[in-house]
Amino acid sequence: MQRLLITGGCGYLGRELVRRGPARGWDVRATWFERPPQGGTGLQDAADWVQADLRHVEAAWRAVAGVDVVIHTAYRQGAGEWEVNVEGSAAVAEAARGLRLVHLSSDVVFDGTRGRYREEDAPDPVNAYGRSKAEAERLVAELHPDATIVRTSLIYGGAEPGPQERLAAEGTRFFVDEIRSPVQVGDLAEALLEVVALELPGALHLGGADDLSRYDFAVLLGADPERIEQAHTTADRAPDVSLDSSRAAALLQTRLRGAYEVLSER
Ligand SMILES: NC(=O)c1ccc[n+]([C@@H]2O[C@H](COP(=O)([O-])OP(=O)(O)OC[C@H]3O[C@@H](n4cnc5c(N)ncnc54)[C@H](OP(=O)(O)O)[C@@H]3O)[C@@H](O)[C@H]2O)c1
Repeated sequence: MQRLLITGGCGYLGRELVRRGPARGWDVRATWFERPPQGGTGLQDAADWVQADLRHVEAAWRAVAGVDVVIHTAYRQGAGEWEVNVEGSAAVAEAARGLRLVHLSSDVVFDGTRGRYREEDAPDPVNAYGRSKAEAERLVAELHPDATIVRTSLIYGGAEPGPQERLAAEGTRFFVDEIRSPVQVGDLAEALLEVVALELPGALHLGGADDLSRYDFAVLLGADPERIEQAHTTADRAPDVSLDSSRAAALLQTRLRGAYEVLSER
């Protein structure tokens, strides 16, 4: 049985990968950093868990030892993001040389002036978080040229409410002019578990099929239009970072459903 390492195994995407990995035939190892897997979540027994602070290259080497494939989801947004996103991703890419590596990146590597970004479009981030993810992409491609660099969009729809669901329930102002391609976390996890079996060096876009504003997305997730306000983006936010994921649609069996389809089924 092949062994798959999922970094950030207690994260929103990581959890979904840990739960689905064994059913797809993987012997799963997963890392946690500050939040160990909790009992009753179906996580503890689904993987062999190791604690790792991936900002340190020795920790990345220890986590990777003995695995065949790595999906690197661990990241941070806000304080410490450069160290985790850039130095941590470089450490994982270096430790995973010779292994299959799928590195998670983001739609916000683009400047958002155009939308419907394709894999060959050049990153040009407008804020510090986007710059850290773009620099991580650059280093991963340099250190591990065979790696697949998956750019995705807002992730939602898991077994437990995630950041998008919490924002829709608690937020008061939502951008009408920031466009994204939200992706359901189960669809994304299934697509990633397909991608690991393919040879796909370079970028791959895995966004949901529908492009919509943060405001419309919040309403779809249940925010009450009577309670929330419409807002406009500021210079440090990329306006339209919707993703063209037609390459993935042609390559993969998994369909990355649009938010209208997923959320109207609920
Ligand atoms: N969420 C979105 O809407 C979105 C949008 C576009 C792209 N993405 C990309 O998708 C990926 C997964 O996102 P997510 O929402 O699933 O993330 P998440 O829920 O915030 O989880 C991030 C994980 O990173 C781990 N981590 C943080 N610092 C670490 C360190 N120093 N060493 C090791 N692990 C560390 C955390 O571990 P502990 O919990 O144990 O501390 C956590 O499990 C990221 O690469 C992100 O850029 C996400």
